[in-house]
Amino acid sequence: MDFKTHIQAVKKECLLALKKVDSVDSLKEVEQRFFSRKNGELSKAMKLLKDESGQAKQTLGQMANDIKKELEDAFANKHDELRREQMAAIGEREAIDVTQTLVTAQMPGHIHPLTQGLWELEDVARGMGFIVEDGPELDSDFYVFESLNIPAHHPARDSQDTFYIKDHPNWCMRSHVSNMQVRLMRKYSEKGSKPVRAAYPGRVFRNEAIDATHEHTFYQFEALMVDREIHIGHLVGVIKELLKGLFGREIEVRLRPSYFPFVEPGFELDMKVDFGKGEQWVEMLGCGLMHPRVLEEGGYDPHEWQGLAFGMGLNRLVMAKYGIEDIRHFHSGDMRFLEQF
Ligand code: DAH
Repeated sequence: MDFKTHIQAVKKECLLALKKVDSVDSLKEVEQRFFSRKNGELSKAMKLLKDESGQAKQTLGQMANDIKKELEDAFANKHDELRREQMAAIGEREAIDVTQTLVTAQMPGHIHPLTQGLWELEDVARGMGFIVEDGPELDSDFYVFESLNIPAHHPARDSQDTFYIKDHPNWCMRSHVSNMQVRLMRKYSEKGSKPVRAAYPGRVFRNEAIDATHEHTFYQFEALMVDREIHIGHLVGVIKELLKGLFGREIEVRLRPSYFPFVEPGFELDMKVDFGKGEQWVEMLGCGLMHPRVLEEGGYDPHEWQGLAFGMGLNRLVMAKYGIEDIRHFHSGDMRFLEQF
């Protein structure tokens, strides 16, 4: 085959191949096949030029160059075309309608049910002359356990129940807000003992297996009162008033003797609630009269002063108020849950 026929055949073949190209990748392949310096079809054809001579060689050489140029242009055009298609597809896929109304603007946020419950309780507490205090979530063994007459072998101190800080065995994430008891009392007894009424809600942490009624992080609402001649009547009275504020009605309660190292006597308080299956007694909180050792730690003479303290799980109370069946809803961020409150 002479040079002219050959190179024209290559050109035809190349244009045909180019026509079938539908992606940048296949374009590269075709480019390789025809333009590769070493064994591309075009280079191979060019080699035949050396068999020609004289005027013919010059004319044919010129023709070969024109063909090469023509094919290069065809490749460049194809490349542009593919890029444009690619961009159009991206534009299609990722289009943003800037005229669309902002959906979130029609969905203003609202207060989380736990916070609503917390604020309701705080309001009632303030109404009864309690100040509301905040406390540290990371605290020393002393305030979380030691100062509360909780002995070293007590199960609450076990790392099964409490999160300790690695390499710092005296520090833990508080497992109850009772870590505020002695801290608060000391504040009030610093310059001579004075009566105290304080509520101290907050987050607590426990190394729990999580299920419908247990979370590793939850809220407690605790309060204490130190004064002269404090008795169980005050304890029940204050608790009932708080529950009434939260539930919006009188709540029937009962006390059962129980044990907490920092109170004596200690009780568990049950309240009558209806979860839809009729009224039932449900265990709601721990309470009691302050143990003399705790009063002493706080700077009060137990012969002169008495105290009451009670602590309740806020999540549980809010669950009881609304009939929420699973504690995990609170931190799920699930709008279907949150929008109901
Ligand atoms: N701190 C206890 C707990 O987390 C609850 C508690 C019991 C608090 C008795 C009190 C109390 O103030 O008097 O289980």
